Amino acid sequence: VLSDIQYAAQRPREEAMSLPPLSYVSDDVLVLEKEKLFGRGWMCVGRTEEMPHPNCFITQDVVGTPVISIRQKDGTIRSFSNVCLHRSSKLVSELRGQMPRVVCPYHAWTYRNDGTLLAAPHMQQLTGFCVQNHALREIRTEVWEGFVYASLDADAPPLAAALQGLKDVYGRYRMAEYITFVHDEETWNANWKIAVENFIEGYHLFRIHPETFEPVSPTLWQAPQVGGRGYMYQTARCRVNPERGERSFGIAPQANTHLEGEWRSTGSNACVFPAHLIQVSPDFLWYMSLQPDGVGRTRIRRGLAVAPERLALEVDHDRFFAETKILFDQVNLEDRVANEAVQTGAASRFAGQGRLCSLEVHMHEFAQYLNRELAA
Ligand code: FES
Ligand SMILES: [Fe+2]
Repeated sequence: VLSDIQYAAQRPREEAMSLPPLSYVSDDVLVLEKEKLFGRGWMCVGRTEEMPHPNCFITQDVVGTPVISIRQKDGTIRSFSNVCLHRSSKLVSELRGQMPRVVCPYHAWTYRNDGTLLAAPHMQQLTGFCVQNHALREIRTEVWEGFVYASLDADAPPLAAALQGLKDVYGRYRMAEYITFVHDEETWNANWKIAVENFIEGYHLFRIHPETFEPVSPTLWQAPQVGGRGYMYQTARCRVNPERGERSFGIAPQANTHLEGEWRSTGSNACVFPAHLIQVSPDFLWYMSLQPDGVGRTRIRRGLAVAPERLALEVDHDRFFAETKILFDQVNLEDRVANEAVQTGAASRFAGQGRLCSLEVHMHEFAQYLNRELAA
């Protein structure tokens, strides 16, 4: 399989081919990916706005390793192993919340929010045990454009440097100011790479989203871009709907004065490798953080956020949130059905590597990323 990934990676971009189908169904490939991609890369664990105050936290399991990220008193966000030092119980199971300290559900060992052990009941008389000597293992954390990332690898190269080229594009939108109104989680019966590739390419819009995305941003307006070491992306123009004016999907409201020219009607889809997917436009932000849950299953943490200028156009926010969520849920379902069909087909003995369309040619960079990291 690795040599077939290498074959896809080494072709000229204009002659790009899909990944070998076996890479979506092989347990051995997943073992390698967990170690080399998810074990070493940067995983999006949430958004800073989920942790507005000190003692707010979010949790995420990164390929079987529970991680908790906590807003500190000084405003910074630090992440720790979410596993007790006593007998390894998972500490916090809620996805997000606020708490003064971390108390283990099993025997109540209690940790401060900086990870140090504060108390261990009935352990005082033990020789050679001193709470001061214990602290949860800290996990590398970076904040980028309002997203919180963690890496299990203490030696992972800094994330921001790998995303500098993407920052030049995405910095325009001021995503960190967008307000999230949907957080949820679901599981698709498809390999995580299928969901990544689907999210990034616009070739399927006319077929899979004929009534949702296609009228807003037609397939032929999708523009693959050249990515960088840590990411791949495309941009897409959106059209103004005369009936909706500045409420048209993908269009900057008049109150938005920071986007200029074509950027006022341009959105973008990106993948921050390995598995953080971001779709941003002047009005909305849609993101997914993927975790493999077996070779043919993917757990997806999703969020949907709105630009403050767009929200200001609405009087009834709850209704606006509900109606917008219905639209995105529909798109999501359309993608899910398509992706699960690819998973089924990839297991066929007759499945092979196919030529990529010019509208999805940037996916070639994904093959290059996989080839580079899996061989490392
Ligand atoms: S496992 Fe956490 S206190 Fe015992
Ligand atoms: Fe789609």
